Amino acid sequence: MARITVDGIPLEVEDGAMLLEALDDAGVLMRDVTIPHYCWHPKLSIDGSCRLCQVEIEGAPKLQIACNTPVEDGMVVHTENERVAAARAGVTEMLLVNHPLDCPICDQAGECKLQDYAFEYGALQSRTREPRRALAKNVDVGPTIVLDQERCILCRRCVRFCREVPGTGELVVRGRGDRSVIDTFPDEPLDNPYSMNVADLCPVGALTTKDFRFKIRVWFLEDVPGICTGCARGCNVYLGVADNKVQRYQPRRNDAVNDTWICDAGRLSYKEIGAADRLSTAMLRGDLGVLEVVGFRDALQAAADRLTRVRQARGASRIGVVASPHATNEDLFVLRRFCDALGVETAGVAVVRGDADDLLLHAEKAANAAGARAMGFEDAAAVCEKLRRGALDALLVAGHDLLDAAYLGGVDGLGDLDTVVWLDTHVSDLQRVADVVLPTRVAAERTGTYTNATGHVQRVTPAVEPAFDARAEGAVIAALGQALHLDGFEVGFDARETSRALSEGVPLFRGRSFDAVGDAGLPLEEEA
Ligand code: SF4
Ligand code: SF4
Ligand code: FES
Repeated sequence: MARITVDGIPLEVEDGAMLLEALDDAGVLMRDVTIPHYCWHPKLSIDGSCRLCQVEIEGAPKLQIACNTPVEDGMVVHTENERVAAARAGVTEMLLVNHPLDCPICDQAGECKLQDYAFEYGALQSRTREPRRALAKNVDVGPTIVLDQERCILCRRCVRFCREVPGTGELVVRGRGDRSVIDTFPDEPLDNPYSMNVADLCPVGALTTKDFRFKIRVWFLEDVPGICTGCARGCNVYLGVADNKVQRYQPRRNDAVNDTWICDAGRLSYKEIGAADRLSTAMLRGDLGVLEVVGFRDALQAAADRLTRVRQARGASRIGVVASPHATNEDLFVLRRFCDALGVETAGVAVVRGDADDLLLHAEKAANAAGARAMGFEDAAAVCEKLRRGALDALLVAGHDLLDAAYLGGVDGLGDLDTVVWLDTHVSDLQRVADVVLPTRVAAERTGTYTNATGHVQRVTPAVEPAFDARAEGAVIAALGQALHLDGFEVGFDARETSRALSEGVPLFRGRSFDAVGDAGLPLEEEA
């Protein structure tokens, strides 16, 4: 370790680490110590090209760039003196020579580093007499991203990202000197599963996503921390919310889970929250054999009556349960208790599998398969096998993953059942065979925790309210338990209370309650 002093603040940092990185790791960068920077990014290689991060180091004759200067024991750094201020002002003036201050119409206004730094370090008036460079403003570089070459300050973050993270290298710097522009090779567009991250890491408004471009000004958004539920990685995101609608996902840094990246598919999965195919009403199959809209309470009572009838006539062993890997740990904990109290012998979890890669994308397309397993729900194959043998009369199924080819591949296996109680967030073929339909909430509407594929327990808080009566799965199961007069189901569902009970009752989750895991999450307790 090295002891250094920055603006009079004594710090102990890793010996040999670059100064900017060391300050970032120490948690003081842009908080206690302000060093503006463009080209440096904590997860990319060092470029050293923007020259904005210059600082004075005692004993060094010239200013040094903080992103590429290793710390040494005893180093004394000044970031707020006249020399440094003059350097920042000079670099900012030079960058503004050719960058149009498009702020009123630029999509990045409000979260643009150039806007911030121009305000902080820029001159009031331009001294240039020559006209600005005129470059292409709407370059279609690929299916997800638009480039404004005029706004680019050539920090090369996007170029390094494509080379170093997905390894696809689509973006390049073309031309030299003041003719340099970011571009793609002809017929080789920016098109990889992580392409939209370049819009987040572009410090100015040069790269924007086609999806979010001109949708809403960013200062109308509230950024709610949450997780992407598109796969078992559980990447950390900010949900940008306005008008009770999630307008976008942006990555949230969590070095233990997703560094600072998310995949394009996950990023766009926010659209499922307010999708037209959300299951929005409780339903009951009536005498005519069609589903009819009913109140939630009536549907719950009908589900309880039908399950009671099966249990009394044939025994609880004839009731199967399929848990959802999209549910929270708290939901699954309640469902586990429900199965035990009811005497259910056949319960499992159905998880759709798909593409995976070496970066983030996990084959399991659900956020909480690991949580379901930790709660004792093994693969739903055993449930399916019993269904096929006709050994079940009733099924309580949460989520539609059961219809994946790996399980039933369709609803045929369910047609002969006496009762199918279906809890879900989106419409699926299960609607054809369900007797009782109970709409549930998606993660963005929930309080609770999820366990990702590496055993990291993370939490979500409600970002939006559903426009219809959808309830947390745990709340539905708890109400069902109450209607069935099961032991331990005397009181309703409270996610934080349940989280506390889970962390006290299941050793793996010890100390992993909603309140304890915080926004960064915590790994599951090691098994003894
Ligand atoms: S497009 Fe953005 S990220 Fe890429 S070099 Fe230009 S300013 Fe940097
Ligand atoms: S890798 Fe998975 S969790 Fe991460 S953003 Fe993509 S789909 Fe979402
Ligand atoms: S951040 Fe150091 S030179 Fe760009």
